[in-house]
Amino acid sequence: MNIPQQLLQRKSIAALSSDGNSLKKTLDAKDLTVLGVGAIIGAGIFVLTGIVAAKFAGPAIIVSFMLAGIACALAALCYSELASMIPVSGSAYSYAYATMGELMAWIIGWDLVLEYALASSTVAIGWAGYLTSFLSTLGVNLPTYLTTAYLADPGQGLVNLPAMIIILLLTGLLIIGIRQSAQFNFVMVVTKLAVIIVFIFAGSGHIQTENWANFAPFGVNGIVTGAGVIFFAYIGFDAVSTAAQEAINPEKDVPFGIIVSLVACTALYILVAAVLTGIISYTELNVPAPIALAVDHIGMTWLSPLIKLGAIAGLTSVMLVLLMGQSRIFYSMSRDKLLPPLFAKVHPLFQTPHQSTLLVGIAVALLAGFMPIEKLGELVSIGTLFAFALVCGGVWILRISHPELPRHFKCPYVPYVPLAGILVCLGLMAGLPADTWVRLFVWLLLGFGIYFGYGVKHSALR
Ligand code: ALA
Repeated sequence: MNIPQQLLQRKSIAALSSDGNSLKKTLDAKDLTVLGVGAIIGAGIFVLTGIVAAKFAGPAIIVSFMLAGIACALAALCYSELASMIPVSGSAYSYAYATMGELMAWIIGWDLVLEYALASSTVAIGWAGYLTSFLSTLGVNLPTYLTTAYLADPGQGLVNLPAMIIILLLTGLLIIGIRQSAQFNFVMVVTKLAVIIVFIFAGSGHIQTENWANFAPFGVNGIVTGAGVIFFAYIGFDAVSTAAQEAINPEKDVPFGIIVSLVACTALYILVAAVLTGIISYTELNVPAPIALAVDHIGMTWLSPLIKLGAIAGLTSVMLVLLMGQSRIFYSMSRDKLLPPLFAKVHPLFQTPHQSTLLVGIAVALLAGFMPIEKLGELVSIGTLFAFALVCGGVWILRISHPELPRHFKCPYVPYVPLAGILVCLGLMAGLPADTWVRLFVWLLLGFGIYFGYGVKHSALR
């Protein structure tokens, strides 16, 4: 299939407004940046930082954050170029559709379910953990059988009800409207940023440099493994691209939102990691709420509940934006007729893809309620890295095959930046356990089954 024709076709789909199934364009550059920050800062910084410092990297988690940030920056530059050329919803799926054909697009779209839907479930379980801990500081103790999935703890667990409830509430909000969701996201983002900035300022006065003395206790290997795990903290910057169709000026504002949100979060992550490992020994950080532990350690116990509140806000915005992204990806796949039409139905009043959002919300809630967190989390990183590598490849392919097409944003140093992006992503994937690869493979096989069973027969291209 001729690529410019596909690009043209996608743009014409994006421009359609008369079929009643187009999305409302309300988001500006600031909204998109806040959306990015909303999706990025969450369980990674509030939960995983401590585990990575204690088990893998020590204070050199600062370097792990830099490495993972560089990997994401390479992918972000590629995402930005494609977003400026193909300003439609659907993230890497749409870019692959336009650059690498339908089958490749299907593979990447199906793969993105691992990033968006599964990451939402993973974060929902982390959210429920923070909520339970926050409530217990207020003297409210929820029974274990209602806060733990049976599969996570067959002895005591039954269902993780708070995780299910928050997903369903956010689903309801997303159905009501993109504007309302963006406003709610803004409040959550301001809250989590405020908490993080207070922690950086309050904690920096208590840094004891001897805590950094044994800077890299696990060597280079530990730093690299740490980067692979902490990569989770960056997942979500690409969610900005899923909102392209709801952006007023997507060619310029989506690249801006992707890059600014990533740079801002990277800077904050490095500062938090430095302060955290500076005020408390990394050996004590193997806990689910490391930042709260650190402020307790320096005697600022008043800050601890606020940190938990900030974490709850942070995780809420991550789930909101990822759920939104997933329904938009299905929306695009359905418009290309690779999924049933109900996924592209837009509510006449709310102008949101309500059926897609509802189905995604129910599936994510069920996973969050009944699955153990590790099983979900393992698949998220491999799926995301795979998608990033394909996006980097897409930029390179399109530069060679269609150098003449207009690009409002150009990734610098092509092919070196895309090539480095591919290599770094593959390198981080290689470091993941073999059973995660097997699960990715099984997931892709399932996707092939659906594509050849449904997509091929209904495809808009055929
Ligand atoms: N980056 C997101 C988080 O850390 C997924 O929660």
